[in-house]
Amino acid sequence: MNIMKFLTSVAVLLSSLENSNGLSVVNPKNVWGGIKIKNTALKLKMSQSEVTDELTQETSNSGSVRNLGDRDILVRCARGEEVERTPVWLMRQAGRYMAAFREYSDKYPFRERSETPDMAVELSLQCHRAYKMDGIIMFSDILTPLPALGIDFDVVKGTGPVISTQIRTEADVDKLNDVNAVNFDETLPFIREILNRLSAEAENANTSLIGFVGAPFTLAAYVIEGKSSKNCLITKKMIMADLCENNESKAMSRFVDILAQLIGNYACHQIECGAQLIQIFESWSHQLSPKLFTQFAKPASQKAISIIKHKYPNVPVIYFANGGSSYLELQRDMGADMIAVDWAVDMQKARDTLGHHVPISGNLDPTVLFGTEEQIRQAVRDCIDKAGGPGKHLLNLGHGVMQGTPEEAVGWLVDECKQYRGN
Ligand code: CP3
Repeated sequence: MNIMKFLTSVAVLLSSLENSNGLSVVNPKNVWGGIKIKNTALKLKMSQSEVTDELTQETSNSGSVRNLGDRDILVRCARGEEVERTPVWLMRQAGRYMAAFREYSDKYPFRERSETPDMAVELSLQCHRAYKMDGIIMFSDILTPLPALGIDFDVVKGTGPVISTQIRTEADVDKLNDVNAVNFDETLPFIREILNRLSAEAENANTSLIGFVGAPFTLAAYVIEGKSSKNCLITKKMIMADLCENNESKAMSRFVDILAQLIGNYACHQIECGAQLIQIFESWSHQLSPKLFTQFAKPASQKAISIIKHKYPNVPVIYFANGGSSYLELQRDMGADMIAVDWAVDMQKARDTLGHHVPISGNLDPTVLFGTEEQIRQAVRDCIDKAGGPGKHLLNLGHGVMQGTPEEAVGWLVDECKQYRGN
């Protein structure tokens, strides 16, 4: 070990004792020069995790200290491994709560932002630069792959997603492009460039790259309704028609099945372009009774997951059903590596319902971020404790970061999660 490495290791070791022992690192970029001793009564007893941290840290080119395990802590956790601390990322971590993001969203329409590699890459990275979450998620949307099937959409300011292609009957389904002939490099050429560039950025930033897709039922419902919907009535009528024995028309089942194939293939394409794990968003689970979930949403998501796992068995898949926490027991056998839970269930109860062998993610109420710093830090510690303690689950919100969330609140959440080592 050369002298600089040795000095850095000592500095890192001392900085890892900061919380319990009264040492503080004034300038993390210059750890050795910046150490201040506030309390001379040092306890020199180190826990196993502190020793491990010390052994796995290195100094990067910029002089900052990086923990080698951070590069894939999210991936290892999503695979179900116990990890050295609880990793964290946030759904909608790239969004309008950030002033830097609004500089783009005020000027350019959504599709332009998400389909122009320079902008999409920048918007994916902003939140990571600010908060150092354990993963970078591509700035895109669950609706992005729909044009590959011939379904057009837009995201209209003040209204949200609007889909102009109408699907109601089997004849409408027949008009869609052949799902097995979809070439993503031709229809969505920007995806490869965005993910390739983010993959290099993630490696440099010592973090993981998250890909994502919408679940087949949720995508089908978005298309059928044409926009966000309170009751999903057109979709429900199509479901009832499909379930009616005398009815030969199976428009809903056929459409959902095509979407399962599309998003299974699309997730594989994202992996081929650099995504290290995939989260599936079943955002409209709250529209489904447990029975309808079992009949329509679950088999289609299982099909998409099996397409991914068949080709890429080692890439973890996280399944998130928003509004699905009342039927978590139905999600144990999705085929996903990890289940993400919404905020309507207590984490302890979610753990008990799923079973302690099922890797779990979640589930802070996004409105906690409107609380005080101490309330936010406490909520993080509670959630981690209820999930089984540090390193035993993947911390996230139980739904996306809301517009209007104070930016500093996100920083407190991430910071508390990364530093908490248990009671
Ligand atoms: O998580 C991230 O940071 C990555 C980006 C991401 C977006 N949408 C960016 C986006 C992700 C993962 C999504 C997924 C998505 N899109 C979901 C699943 C997650 C969930 O909330 O349940 C859903 C249901 C959609 C559909 C959709 N797209 C909605 C509801 C909206 C918001 C409409 C609005 O005007 O508020 C969009 C557009 C969209 N996608 C925005 C963002 C940041 C906001 C609009 C904008 O930036 O112009």
